Amino acid sequence: GFLAGVAAAGRREGGAGDAPAVMIDVLFGTQTGNAEFLAGELAAGARARGLGGRVTALDDVTPDQLAAMAHVLVVTSTYGEGELPDNAGLFWEALQAETAPRLEGLRYAVLGLGDRGYDDFCQAAKVIDTRLEQLGAGRLHERADCDVDFEEPAAEWSAAVLERLVAETGVTGDTGASPSPEPRAPRSPWNKRTPYRSRLAVNRLLSSPRSAKEIRHYEFDLGDSGITYEAGDALAVVPLNDEALVGGLLTHLGASGDEEAARLLRAEREIRTPSKELIADLVERAPSSELAAVVAHGDRSDLDSWLWGRDVLDLLRDAGPAAAPPLAELLSLLRPLQARQYSISSSPLAHPDRIHLTIASVRYGTGKRAYEGVASTYLADRVGEDAAVGVFVQPNASFGVPADDDAPMVMIGPGTGIAPFRGFLHERAARGATGRNWLFFGDRHRETDFVYEDELTQLRKDGVLTELDLAFSRDQAEKVYVQTRMRERSRELYGWLEEGAHVYVCGDASRMAKDVEAALLGVIAEQRGRGDDDAAEYLADLRRAKRYVRDVY
Ligand code: 2AM
Repeated sequence: GFLAGVAAAGRREGGAGDAPAVMIDVLFGTQTGNAEFLAGELAAGARARGLGGRVTALDDVTPDQLAAMAHVLVVTSTYGEGELPDNAGLFWEALQAETAPRLEGLRYAVLGLGDRGYDDFCQAAKVIDTRLEQLGAGRLHERADCDVDFEEPAAEWSAAVLERLVAETGVTGDTGASPSPEPRAPRSPWNKRTPYRSRLAVNRLLSSPRSAKEIRHYEFDLGDSGITYEAGDALAVVPLNDEALVGGLLTHLGASGDEEAARLLRAEREIRTPSKELIADLVERAPSSELAAVVAHGDRSDLDSWLWGRDVLDLLRDAGPAAAPPLAELLSLLRPLQARQYSISSSPLAHPDRIHLTIASVRYGTGKRAYEGVASTYLADRVGEDAAVGVFVQPNASFGVPADDDAPMVMIGPGTGIAPFRGFLHERAARGATGRNWLFFGDRHRETDFVYEDELTQLRKDGVLTELDLAFSRDQAEKVYVQTRMRERSRELYGWLEEGAHVYVCGDASRMAKDVEAALLGVIAEQRGRGDDDAAEYLADLRRAKRYVRDVY
């Protein structure tokens, strides 16, 4: 208000000049936007306490800039197998190099985001925390490693760190009433705790019924939610577990009539993927089970392959009814049910009132029981047309069409990786963007898996889609993948890069995205003829310029 404004103006006249005396640099590494969001909150918190707050992506900080900083807070997630997020890889490389600067002048603290379900929980945060210390920086506060429900621990850590900063820097602080100097985007009222109940208006099979795969097109009605989105954002879906599976669990535990337990198992716990805690508990309770034998005699990959396709009920059956943990204990051993994020496949310019998703239903296993993915089969089988689904938008600021409508785009998205690119093409068509667009798409068979074929054909006719390269892997004896097509078109592809193209990759992270990156490096090396290091540097420059971005999972 007015008085706060006067107070702020008075402080400035007091000699501090326009910039606050103490700058807090908040650096983030993010894959889905959570770390970036928390970084924004931290900087706002610093400003509210009379400190300066500046938010920067880790990859946008050079070693020299880092060495010149006095107070640094790092917020980073981990993705894949202990890897750094895409916008932090260059920072990490620079920090590891022998040429990395000494950081004796730096005070810092690290906040990690992760998922305890993975072995390399918060690995990116751990290695950055350790490396900064090795380089001589002083730790302001212990690192916190947050699990998937990060909101509360992150808020506690932030409050403690900001308090510590105020104490260390001697800033009088306590200007909580003063407005933050930068306008902040209004936070969507819809989130994990209070998802918007959206009407599922369309649930349509995209792949042929003869395909081995089931890819579906969904449309969620935004009604009067006020939800806005951008092409490239994700929609989080809050699923419910299969009632039959919940019933099976309750029966096994002899608790069929327990309504509260049924509700928790249906809406609050992961009952498909057994948690590490449950596995450890069952090994103790049932030392002669198959599970216990694999844990005792096998390695990690033996355990993983034994666990493949087995869910919580399978493990309880393996342990035997006598070894079942009491219901309350089982509930505490299971992980909280997670919302699932899907890349949005529409553009708000073409579809302001709806969000489209393109999802492969996860169904596997041919044994006694059918195994199904939690959220994909919830949408496919259990919601029913026009019923409500809990959803919220997860913005992804780093994945979207170029701001420059003339810039060329190269999009690589096999399988359901096509989703955001359908949105990008709709977006560019609606904007009348003149930049050329090139899509690499593929799947197993053209006959049954060429999703959105009519649309893509029309976009080609309309001149929106300039180039379309298709790779149907199983239509011939030898495998043909999107990267095969990239290599075949090496010269043109490099030509597009030289003309300022933005390159996007979406889809499978474990193999496809790595192979596509190798192909891209190969194309660059071949066309430039200056070796592998030069190609790596060329790609790193694209990354720094945010012209090589990925949405991989
Ligand atoms: P495949 O299943 O015949 O091996 C979508 O899943 C498409 O991606 C399929 O055609 C699949 O082929 C293909 N795919 C599988 N592994 C891949 C990889 N490492 N790189 C690129 N595409 C791959």
